[in-house]
Amino acid sequence: MKKTIRDIDVSNKKVLVRCDFNVPQDENGNITDKRRILGAIPTIKYLIEHNAKVILCSHLGRPKGEVKKEFSLAPVQKELSKELGIEVKLADDIVGESAKTLTKDMKEGEIVLLENVRFDKREEANDQEFSRELASLAEIYVNDAFGTSHRAHSSTAGVAEFLPAVSGFLIEKEIKFLGEALNNPERPFVSIIGGKKVSDKISVINNLLEKVDTLIIGGGMAYTFFKAKGMNIGNSICEEEKLDLAKQIMQKAEEKNVKLLLPVDIHVAKEYAPNPESKTVKAEQIEDGWEGMDIGPETINLYAEVLKTAKTIMWNGPLGVFEFEKFANRNK
Ligand code: 3PG
Repeated sequence: MKKTIRDIDVSNKKVLVRCDFNVPQDENGNITDKRRILGAIPTIKYLIEHNAKVILCSHLGRPKGEVKKEFSLAPVQKELSKELGIEVKLADDIVGESAKTLTKDMKEGEIVLLENVRFDKREEANDQEFSRELASLAEIYVNDAFGTSHRAHSSTAGVAEFLPAVSGFLIEKEIKFLGEALNNPERPFVSIIGGKKVSDKISVINNLLEKVDTLIIGGGMAYTFFKAKGMNIGNSICEEEKLDLAKQIMQKAEEKNVKLLLPVDIHVAKEYAPNPESKTVKAEQIEDGWEGMDIGPETINLYAEVLKTAKTIMWNGPLGVFEFEKFANRNK
């Protein structure tokens, strides 16, 4: 088991905690689901109770290296202060003057939240200098950003090269749960894998093929599988250089007797936009000029039937372009 905050003396130390505060918000910036904030509380409380000086950081959305007000962590700061009953200070920047000033003479039990780490384009590039600057604010690094732990960015990976690094309680809990589910699953064990890229998930898929009874594929990566099967995918997203990989995965599934399910119908659109012309077609009938945005109703029913019989379900990644309401299919 990885070391956790229990295994390190945090007393009187500045502790940089990477959380995943990537919470959904409505058009007025109100947080519509605060579970990710609540998930970080046990680690933060433990650190305060053990007299640490807590510096929190996270991304929110995908501002792509630019400072954009709508991606500010200000709503998170308010919610955190409310939940903890302690004032959480928000820095105006990540490693700039404001962050340095607020974290310089911190007292035990104080909490400072840095601004959205993705306001700096060096974050996603896992830039060494940015990692070093982040690390220089603290003496210990704690990763508790379970939802982002698959990303090798400065605040999730790079910074650990410069500081003693341990995991928080959320990561510990999820790893324990995942370990139990993977090593001793109640069967049938069904896994759903979505998201844009096969390449992002290849090691996950390879591992799961050793364990699951059924693997459900959805999201952008389905089109790489379709193309590997020789199907037309129109303008749908595709990793051309991963077609062989997709073929290998399908072959491995067959060898391992794992049912690999791909979408049977697709909600396609004329363009990648919030409200484009769209229609549902059979998976084999995606025409040129159209691109896949979501799974269709037949696929939803098919997947739902399989999931009803499952005793263990592991889900990773979205099955459609949920960022656009039209393709979020919340009521199904
Ligand atoms: C998520 O919501 O999946 C995580 O916070 C990671 O966000 P990302 O996909 O923008 O890296």
